[in-house]
Amino acid sequence: MIATEDPRVKLFGTLVDVVRKDRPQFPFQISKAPVGQYTDPRWFSHEWQTIFKQSPIIAGVSCLVPEPGDHFTNDLLGVPLLIARGKDGRLRCFHNVCRHRGVRLSNADQVERKKTFSCPYHHWTYDLEGRLIFVPAEEGFPNLDKNCLSLKEVPLVEKYGLIWVQPYSETAINIDEYLGNIVVDLDRFGLAKSYFFRQNTHYCKANWKLHIEAFQDGYHVTRLHNKSVGGFFADNLAVQEREKDHIRSIVARKEIEQALHVSPEEWDLRNHGSFSHLIWPNTTMIIHPDYVSQVTFYPVSEEETTIIHNMIVHEDIQSEKAFGHFDRSFRLIDQGVFADEDFHVCQQAQIGLKSGANSHFTIGGFEAGIRQFHEILYEKTGQYRKV
Ligand code: FES
Ligand SMILES: [Fe+2]
Repeated sequence: MIATEDPRVKLFGTLVDVVRKDRPQFPFQISKAPVGQYTDPRWFSHEWQTIFKQSPIIAGVSCLVPEPGDHFTNDLLGVPLLIARGKDGRLRCFHNVCRHRGVRLSNADQVERKKTFSCPYHHWTYDLEGRLIFVPAEEGFPNLDKNCLSLKEVPLVEKYGLIWVQPYSETAINIDEYLGNIVVDLDRFGLAKSYFFRQNTHYCKANWKLHIEAFQDGYHVTRLHNKSVGGFFADNLAVQEREKDHIRSIVARKEIEQALHVSPEEWDLRNHGSFSHLIWPNTTMIIHPDYVSQVTFYPVSEEETTIIHNMIVHEDIQSEKAFGHFDRSFRLIDQGVFADEDFHVCQQAQIGLKSGANSHFTIGGFEAGIRQFHEILYEKTGQYRKV
């Protein structure tokens, strides 16, 4: 049974109401967004300062690194990071930088498991908690205080099955304050009790915001995706609501009709619709019927984005049959839908924006999630001005 105070249920109720009354959520209106926001390198630097240096960023999911010694690196926030689970079970984030001569300590581009981190250059060695525990020929460093040469730690918080880091801050992340009531959604998505299935990294020649907007846009689903997953969805039926700096979002699946004839306790949130929440600033959580996609968009420049997609499942996959099922699902969503359709049109849009043919985007009534995203952008960055 689903608790009705669950904000996901409330939003789903809005969607059901839209279907029942055959009317949109809001009175329609058109708004505009200047294309310079997507093409101007100086605006990109401004966004980097005002958004990415100020916000906790989701660097992955807990189920990637379940055991002590599990670790991975991340270079996508302008600082080389090493994220590792200690013997005490706590996850920490360090600068991936040896304290001797600054060499990159780990080159794990996938998750690996180790007992210690040994620098390749002179083999200074650190434990999983970041303490310097071994210096070869230590007599060459009289009075060296190893206690002062632990790896440099940056704020990390692990909660609701997700990992946030904030490499440009010294203070602890207050994640519940940052998330507001969207913590209820994250909690109920059940990621803390889930399993990692697969990861893929994509590089796209398109501004990061184009990607975020594509996942807040129910208008394209049955059109762009008409050869892949479009047939699973109702046409143009999506609702979004802002929660602090995040956006709670759901797109109706064809099965939404069933929800019209049953009580709210019987609504099936994962089969009657698909959530596509924006966790500010650059992660989208897509809740598919039997798995979750966590997609984080890392800006590289005003026209380049690196995208990491983690697929998370709710069962510990043992059988070949289940593996085959999720393997096919991953290929369909990661390549067939995201890369070949969503990311592809974002790249096509970037080419169009650079041409100068349009001075503004025209955002219509069915693109309310994009409008909400722009409200948040405006609050963080101020109005776009050509510089
Ligand atoms: S730079 Fe790492 S041990 Fe020398
Ligand atoms: Fe899409």
